Amino acid sequence: MDFKRTHLFQVLLLLGCLIVLGVKVECQKGSWSFSYVAPSCRAQSVSIAEFGGVGDGTTVNTEAFRKAIEHLSEFSETGGGQLYIPPGRWLTGSFNLTDHFTLYLHKEAVILGSQDLEDWPLIPPLPSYGMGRDAPGPRYSSLINGYNLTDVVITGDNGTIDGQGAIWWQKFHKKILKNTRGYLVELMYSKDIIISNLTFLNSPAWNLHPVYSSNILIQYVTILAPLDSPNTDGIDPDSCSYVRIEDCYVVSGDDIVAIKSGWDEYGISFGMPSQHIVIRRLVGISPTSAIIALGSEMSGGIQDVRAEDIQAINSETGIRIKTSPGRGGFVKDIFVNRMTMVNMKWAFTMTGSYGSHPDNKYDPNALPAVERISYSNIVATNVSVAGKLDGIANAPFKDICLTNVTITMAAKSKKYPWNCTYIHGLSNAVYPQPCSLLEERPAEGDAFCPSPQELDTTEENSLQHCSYSSSH
Ligand SMILES: *[C@@H]1O[C@H](CO)[C@@H](O)[C@H](O)[C@H]1NC(C)=O
Ligand SMILES: *[C@@H]1O[C@H](CO)[C@@H](O)[C@H](O)[C@H]1NC(C)=O
Ligand SMILES: *[C@@H]1O[C@H](CO)[C@@H](O)[C@H](O)[C@H]1NC(C)=O
Ligand SMILES: *[C@@H]1O[C@H](CO)[C@@H](O)[C@H](O)[C@H]1NC(C)=O
Ligand SMILES: *[C@@H]1O[C@H](CO)[C@@H](O)[C@H](O)[C@H]1NC(C)=O
Ligand SMILES: *[C@@H]1O[C@H](CO)[C@@H](O)[C@H](O)[C@H]1NC(C)=O
Ligand SMILES: *[C@@H]1O[C@H](CO)[C@@H](O)[C@H](O)[C@H]1NC(C)=O
Repeated sequence: MDFKRTHLFQVLLLLGCLIVLGVKVECQKGSWSFSYVAPSCRAQSVSIAEFGGVGDGTTVNTEAFRKAIEHLSEFSETGGGQLYIPPGRWLTGSFNLTDHFTLYLHKEAVILGSQDLEDWPLIPPLPSYGMGRDAPGPRYSSLINGYNLTDVVITGDNGTIDGQGAIWWQKFHKKILKNTRGYLVELMYSKDIIISNLTFLNSPAWNLHPVYSSNILIQYVTILAPLDSPNTDGIDPDSCSYVRIEDCYVVSGDDIVAIKSGWDEYGISFGMPSQHIVIRRLVGISPTSAIIALGSEMSGGIQDVRAEDIQAINSETGIRIKTSPGRGGFVKDIFVNRMTMVNMKWAFTMTGSYGSHPDNKYDPNALPAVERISYSNIVATNVSVAGKLDGIANAPFKDICLTNVTITMAAKSKKYPWNCTYIHGLSNAVYPQPCSLLEERPAEGDAFCPSPQELDTTEENSLQHCSYSSSH
């Protein structure tokens, strides 16, 4: 065979095709081929169908997922493993992932969350929260869980993970849930994580919840939940370091990205901040909440958050800092650059009296420190209130800086576009004219507001391109 034919032969093999008489080509049913980037490529690949999985939308596949992942966990130290989800509707209860592992969904694959609450076993509350967020005591597992893992990839060709959350939202509204709802994905105490090229639908509560984890890339993800679904936050990095959220589209009934770090006395004693977080090219719609929220659970501290090229549409608020006496901790070194907003209630909010305490054991003298918050190059149109910025009387929010912010007020806007209490800061080129607590200063030199230092990326793994094919 000449070079061209050899090459064609290889390509067809990759596509899982059977070559008959050199001419007739049959691509076998159930074969697959794909590629993606990962911290390392995997030595073993299996399909959920090989472990008794049935993608008919009604068979519960929890055992198939558990068995397949248990099998692949045997290879975590010898090249890693990958679980392929072919086209179909794969109903399942909660399952745990393993180390050096990839979950890959075909574009027509849908993982469906079981409607039987028993399929979401109860687990202890998060130590930095002391109790469940909806109710004290244990909480439901998430649909996909990871504990103490290294090198996990959840990806696909825009396949779907659908939590079928309506049953949970109804029970939550009727106040008949005895335990806190689970999430779609929760990865705890883990590192080197990629979640990419997938669509997440209808989570019972938050969608993606990395917690006590580091080196996380969330990319090309679509997250959709009904606008009135309760607490369906998009992406909530919680006590996490080195997180990159890029090119995501999120529509939800709560915050689009909410950075957190534990709740009151439990978060203070756990003491693990969220830091070194980059959010880029995010588009969000959140009519009842924020596009980017810092808090309200922030007792371990939040620092060094860089948000760039963010688009807010039809939302309650663009950027919101929420905290309370009793939280302790800090929110500092927050840099938002290049953001557009349309049809908003508030462009910016800071809430120093958010309340929402786990119990009455919090220390009212544990005051959060909110400082060095910069908002630059922002254009907002059809906004009811430009800024509602309320700090805390004996712990004012300080070093707030706004520059090049142009807000076009809605026809029926409030008389005073800004309303500020217990904050200090500076402003330059902000329209309409900001509250007097954001003192107007002329710009001297290039950058009026501080800009972040180069992010140290030595903790980031280099990624490899991995290709796989099969003809099962
Ligand atoms: C993920 O999505 C991006 C943007 O659509 C695309 O460029 C990339 O090839 C996709 N990756 C995979 C593995 O499908
Ligand atoms: C996942 O692992 C944790 C920790 O080992 C365990 O408590 C939990 O029961 C497991 N969950 C499932 C669904 O297997
Ligand atoms: C995970 O690590 C944490 C902290 O190191 C430890 O407390 C916990 O028991 C571990 N959990 C599992 C399931 O291994
Ligand atoms: C992925 O699927 C979602 C939901 O169907 C869709 O809105 C989105 O545009 C798709 N993304 C890509 C890159 O095809
Ligand atoms: C302005 O935004 C409000 C929602 O905040 C919306 O109802 C209204 O239609 C928008 N007006 C225009 C002119 O787009
Ligand atoms: C102000 O911000 C807008 C929108 O990001 C940008 O196009 C413009 O160049 C900025 N102006 C200055 C002086 O930086
Ligand atoms: C600012 O908001 C408070 C309520 O939070 C209100 O009482 C006060 O009148 C507002 N001030 C202005 C100038 O709108």
